[in-house]
Amino acid sequence: MKIPFVDLKSQGVEYLEPFECVLRSIVERAAYTLGPEVAEFESAFALMCGCHHAVGVSSGTDALALAYLAVGVRPGDEVIVPANTFIATAEAVSHIGATPVFVDCLKDTANLDPAMLAAACTGRTRAIVPVHLYGQPADMDPILAFAAERGIPVVEDACQAHGATYHGRPVGSLGAAAAFSFYPGKNLGALGDGGAVTTNDPAIADHVALLRNHGQSDKYTHAEIGYCDRLHNLQAAFLAVKLPHLAEANESRRRAAAHYDRLLAGVPGIEPIRTRSDVGHVHHLYVVQVDDRNAVRSALDSAGVESGIHYPVPLHLTPAYRALGHATGDFPVAERLAGRILSLPMHPYLTEAHVEYVVGVIRATLA
Ligand SMILES: Cc1ncc(COP(=O)(O)O)c(C=O)c1O
Repeated sequence: MKIPFVDLKSQGVEYLEPFECVLRSIVERAAYTLGPEVAEFESAFALMCGCHHAVGVSSGTDALALAYLAVGVRPGDEVIVPANTFIATAEAVSHIGATPVFVDCLKDTANLDPAMLAAACTGRTRAIVPVHLYGQPADMDPILAFAAERGIPVVEDACQAHGATYHGRPVGSLGAAAAFSFYPGKNLGALGDGGAVTTNDPAIADHVALLRNHGQSDKYTHAEIGYCDRLHNLQAAFLAVKLPHLAEANESRRRAAAHYDRLLAGVPGIEPIRTRSDVGHVHHLYVVQVDDRNAVRSALDSAGVESGIHYPVPLHLTPAYRALGHATGDFPVAERLAGRILSLPMHPYLTEAHVEYVVGVIRATLA
């Protein structure tokens, strides 16, 4: 059986008809940038995130950079990010001339370890960035408490966690601002790149809206040097078609994850990343820790099952950040995870039979 890691085709084909109507309407009106489609999607997305504002931008990476700027990060400042995340969390810090300061993660959830914040915080720390990795919210209460005591804004990297909740509250509404990605493979994916910043602070929303469009306050009046980081009307309209179906798609992911959990319980040599009981996890990825990853991966490959590793090199050891001078051993939990984690197929179209097949291959390998 062939089991893809994600099913991008199904998630596009399912909405083909409404997409075609949207495309026709946009072409007929020649309304391509920052039109009503963007504003309508922003309102709907803000509502879903329990926020007053959402500002559509061109990608998750740009959403992070603009959110960092809007909460006050400036060149020379430091921003705390987890060592175990996609590079964009840190890269966006570097794009605006600030320095990422890495912290280690928790060994069971792989999310930022709040106990590591104190050692990483300096007089130059201007933001803390918990990542809701794999679709599971970071442990926000201690992070928010630490940041509030020191007056440091928290920017959530919610790029993998559309619709997730922490203590019943939607991610995107928990910190000063949050960044989302609509890259096609995300839980809410566009037909290309896209992103959004959410916030309850109107000043942050206004600043991001200014920055995304060349710092333009009025036509050809540029209040500051900004960026060309707009969300396209077409992408906003496609996203608006898909948004009402996000909860249902997340529910399918939850069902598949629960089935994996049930079938993998007690299999020696493999341990799923733990789901906290106080969060609504949206399972962007289903990740296990496995002693003999190479053997499992190659058996899955031979059986037609795609898998991935998120991420094989922690950021402090990635060549792009060599200049920060880190060495192996600096963040031992992230390093150990990087050598053991394996992402199994996960998407809303995964059936129980698919999950059973994948686990059957794993069981046979580890037996
Ligand atoms: C945790 C995380 N942060 C940021 C990003 C960047 O998003 P984009 O690819 O839309 O720039 C991603 C996307 O892969 C991500 O997974």
